[in-house]
Amino acid sequence: MIEAKGLRRSYQDGEGHLLTVLDGVDLSVAAGEFVAIMGRSGSGKSTLLHILGGLDADYAGEVTVAGSRLTGLPDAALSKFRNQQVAFVFQSFHLVPGLSAADNVALPAFFGGAASDDEVRAKAQAALERVGLAAKLDRLPAQLSGGERQRVAIARALFTQPKVLFCDEPTGNLDAATGSEVIALFGQLNSEGLTVLAVTHEERVSVAARRVLQLQQGKLS
Ligand SMILES: Nc1ncnc2c1ncn2[C@@H]1O[C@H](COP(=O)(O)OP(=O)(O)OP(=O)(O)O)[C@@H](O)[C@H]1O
Ligand SMILES: [Mg+2]
Repeated sequence: MIEAKGLRRSYQDGEGHLLTVLDGVDLSVAAGEFVAIMGRSGSGKSTLLHILGGLDADYAGEVTVAGSRLTGLPDAALSKFRNQQVAFVFQSFHLVPGLSAADNVALPAFFGGAASDDEVRAKAQAALERVGLAAKLDRLPAQLSGGERQRVAIARALFTQPKVLFCDEPTGNLDAATGSEVIALFGQLNSEGLTVLAVTHEERVSVAARRVLQLQQGKLS
């Protein structure tokens, strides 16, 4: 499902020096896996996730995800890939404050789909049911707890039926109890067949994964 070979990514620092963050990363993730990539702050976890998810094209190496070879894809094709093949969950939930839970979940329909309003509403409702929020379709983000907001973000991610769910510190803003609910939800979605790749420095996320890798000094092991 994910094949990455020889990934290298450097940034210019303020003084014009090159900082090499990824220094030859190889990764192979099969369909249906739940993989966690751990590493300390600044080790390059978000950098790697952005490359694998088609959010960053400025790297050396080769990436294929869900049958699409991302390397060298034009911007339009890359954004189509992001819209149709994968989905993201971030530490800060990125919900639109003025939209209800259901409308936040249906947001991808405004970008990609041609579905009717009823169809969109039904799909958003189904996604919210899947994350246990059937009773809170019409709540605004401010009327939801942190854990519930993250579950809305996960429902939005599921809305497009992605092949891979990419998560960047998905429990970083959650306390122990709400964090474990969200982690259990990833486990459940994975057992239903979704491929999950999470980057995190949190042990509690990695214990839920079926395979744990370490990112250190630009290498994955
Ligand atoms: N756009 C950028 N320009 C310059 N340097 C960057 C840029 N993005 C990231 N970096 C640097 O690259 C390194 C890796 O950053 P990255 O965000 O991938 O780390 P991370 O492992 O996700 O860290 P954290 O756990 O804190 O989220 C850091 O030293 C960071 O300062
Ligand atoms: Mg990060």
